[in-house]
Amino acid sequence: MSHADDHEGTRRDFIYYATAGAGAVATGAAVWPLVNQMNPSADVQALASIRVDTADIDVGTQLTVKWRGKPVFVRRRTEDEIADARAVNLADLVIDDEARNDNNPGADASDENRSMDEAGEWLVMMGVCTHLGCVPLGDGAGDFGGWFCPCHGSHYDTSGRIRKGPAPENLPVPIARFEGSELVLG
Ligand code: FES
Repeated sequence: MSHADDHEGTRRDFIYYATAGAGAVATGAAVWPLVNQMNPSADVQALASIRVDTADIDVGTQLTVKWRGKPVFVRRRTEDEIADARAVNLADLVIDDEARNDNNPGADASDENRSMDEAGEWLVMMGVCTHLGCVPLGDGAGDFGGWFCPCHGSHYDTSGRIRKGPAPENLPVPIARFEGSELVLG
């Protein structure tokens, strides 16, 4: 996991590392904060907003970054993952049919309302199980080919929607946007 907390009061407070997480992780993708690191309030700003270089994330892999103290999954989905997510009938989302997307409040949980781009290649969401907060396993884990939380058996599909198990809500999509190949969180 991140070592960002290990050096209080130093510049390293503000550097976020890609973490192995549980799924495939793109290596070499740079992550850095959107702050002037000499600014005394930089720590606050660093928590508020970070930039993630997604250029080196391969299709079918996931980068996990730490943001506001929590893991965020940045997945570049395969065509099959996108197709699976978009083929799901809203009526089948019996546990949670809301998008849980801070960029799209109040929308239904169709995959189009959760993914970052129209084509659906990018899915960005908090890597925190909505049951009791474990970090779900990724890379096609679980009965629905998305993520699986082994703590109490919650299965999420390829759109991060809860499909089976005790978790009450879909994995939330945080405020995020792309600027070119850079993902800005916050
Ligand atoms: S914390 Fe994930 S299933 Fe309980």
